[in-house]
Amino acid sequence: MWTNAFTVLLAILLVYLLYAVFRVYLLRRFYEKQGIPFVKSYAIIGAELQVFKLYQKNKSHDHAYIQNIQLPTDLVGTIRGLTVQLYGTSREVSEKLIHQTGVYLDRDTPAVFSFGRLGPDAIAFAPYSEYFFKQRKMALIRATGDSKRLFHIASRHAQDLLTQFRVENGTGQIIDVFELLNHFTRRTSGDFVWGKNTVNRSVEVLNSNDKMEYMSFMDALNETFTELRFYSNKLWNRIYFPLSVWPITREARRLTFNTKVIRNEIDQMMKYPEKNSVSEAVQIDNAKYGVPLNMTRDDLITSTIAGLDTIKSTIMSTMWHLLNEDNMKWREMVLAEITPILENSENAYTELAHCKVLNAVIYEALRFETPGSLINNYATKDYDLIVREKTYKIKAGTRIVPNIHVLHYTEPCWPEYNTIPLDVFDPSRFIGHDKEIVGSCYYMPFGKGPRRCPGQAVGMLMVRVFVAIFLARNFKCHITIPQDQANDVTYFNLSSRATFSIHCNTEN
Ligand code: HEM
Ligand SMILES: *[C@@H]1O[C@H](CO)[C@@H](O)[C@H](O)[C@H]1NC(C)=O
Ligand SMILES: *[C@@H]1O[C@H](CO)[C@@H](O)[C@H](O)[C@H]1NC(C)=O
Ligand SMILES: *[C@@H]1O[C@H](CO)[C@@H](O)[C@H](O)[C@H]1NC(C)=O
Ligand SMILES: *[C@@H]1O[C@H](CO)[C@@H](O)[C@H](O)[C@H]1NC(C)=O
Ligand SMILES: *[C@@H]1O[C@H](CO)[C@@H](O)[C@H](O)[C@H]1NC(C)=O
Ligand SMILES: *[C@@H]1O[C@H](CO)[C@@H](O)[C@H](O)[C@H]1NC(C)=O
Repeated sequence: MWTNAFTVLLAILLVYLLYAVFRVYLLRRFYEKQGIPFVKSYAIIGAELQVFKLYQKNKSHDHAYIQNIQLPTDLVGTIRGLTVQLYGTSREVSEKLIHQTGVYLDRDTPAVFSFGRLGPDAIAFAPYSEYFFKQRKMALIRATGDSKRLFHIASRHAQDLLTQFRVENGTGQIIDVFELLNHFTRRTSGDFVWGKNTVNRSVEVLNSNDKMEYMSFMDALNETFTELRFYSNKLWNRIYFPLSVWPITREARRLTFNTKVIRNEIDQMMKYPEKNSVSEAVQIDNAKYGVPLNMTRDDLITSTIAGLDTIKSTIMSTMWHLLNEDNMKWREMVLAEITPILENSENAYTELAHCKVLNAVIYEALRFETPGSLINNYATKDYDLIVREKTYKIKAGTRIVPNIHVLHYTEPCWPEYNTIPLDVFDPSRFIGHDKEIVGSCYYMPFGKGPRRCPGQAVGMLMVRVFVAIFLARNFKCHITIPQDQANDVTYFNLSSRATFSIHCNTEN
């Protein structure tokens, strides 16, 4: 009898799978007939096998969607899991998609099955129409807007760590930037969001051998966050997202346990918020609007995580370019700009924000190596996407988003005054034009529109502080790439584990 039931179940599953695959196939045909090119993909597995191979090559999944396609086209299609995803790859489409966000388009993200498990009720996963959306977003921006406090926290941790790592003229020290920045971003984010006691806070979680172990809270948070991300990126979990939540593997059960530990710890931390911390400010604001506690908690968790590897990647790519001998001119200009500010300014925290050259270098690093994104939207209803004279019929449920990576690299998307080729690193394209470019529909490392990143100011400030303090202490240094990493592995985006070493000079 059980075998019969099992056979029936299996048959139902198979029929469902066939149906789902057939539906995706039809949808793909529907878009192809409208002239949308698709990324080469495999039956059932879709483009995921390609994506998977890219991960092993330390390249982001976006790479699969942009290679082998004659750009620019308006849209590029791909199969993602059992859904169709369209990427906007022209400026006009990007502009339309941003304007239609909240109208025809909204967040739909498989990330809830991934790192989103740490904060399923976070604003990042909520629909735009959610009742508290605007208040929550405003609360986040307001609460993280104390740039004076952030400046002091970031400076203190940068100075402490640079001393600890002996980053100074004359020491001859060799530093692994990756390690240094892991510490910097964890301490600064933890301290900023939750207060200084967070740095020493610890929790008991299951380590990779399934043994209980005390770990620093921020380490455990980041590790769980990263492991959730990598686990959900496993091939089958990318094809059917909810699989990554099922307790079918030891790893899945361990992650579920650790996620619970961290969420409980945060409940405790919320009870006694440190004065002036982001946690205190968000809790006060959200309570005023009657935002449920679980949403407030999850917004705080998200804010803590969001400023780790994104900021680390941005600093790494900024330093990578700035310390390159070819960019010595830029390094000198930045030093000249920041020295008077760091040496004797009461208002360093605001003045640093107005450093033209430093900003241009960071913006260019964000263009060249965009850390990654949460942009993950889908069409909430059937609608006509009209671009120039062309009408694309979009079906509800199709994922459709601008591809930031492609826009950042595609000449026709940029205005005519940008005459510098986009495949070279050159901050001068931003000098005198930063206002127009930052905030446009072709340059958006932080997204744009109603779902844009509320942490842009925080991220930029942390990067500025670290880079400025580093250069001031250790202007003369050079970089090397570790033996085991090929040159092309030095892409500093979210999926990349690439690193480089910085050698401090041996004489003063
Ligand atoms: C260099 C650092 C960072 C980069 C490059 C970055 C990038 C992004 C991008 C591309 C998005 C998607 C925007 C869109 O869909 O239009 C996003 C969303 C988001 N980011 Fe950031 N981010 C950074 C730092 C931060 C920080 C420090 C915080 C914490 C306050 C943060 C919190 C968020 C949240 C909550 C969302 C979701 C917003 C929504 O769904 O409406 N990010 N980020
Ligand atoms: C990817 O990065 C890891 C960690 O840095 C490295 O060990 C590995 O060799 C890299 N893979 C390739 C294909 O370069
Ligand atoms: C990083 O960015 C570069 C350039 O934008 C891209 O070619 C590469 O695929 C990305 N790699 C990762 C690991 O995201
Ligand atoms: C977070 O943890 C992952 C995995 O252990 C590690 O690769 C990454 O560098 C860490 N990031 C930070 C900011 O600590
Ligand atoms: C954290 O612990 C270290 C070493 O025990 C100590 O030196 C430091 O002052 C502590 N920091 C905070 C903020 O409590
Ligand atoms: C969060 O709170 C809301 C409102 O109180 C509730 O509807 C929702 O189910 C809660 N979410 C979780 C995961 O408990
Ligand atoms: C390190 O060297 C640079 C340039 O040679 C100099 O401007 C800077 O003051 C030195 N820093 C320290 C801490 O000695």
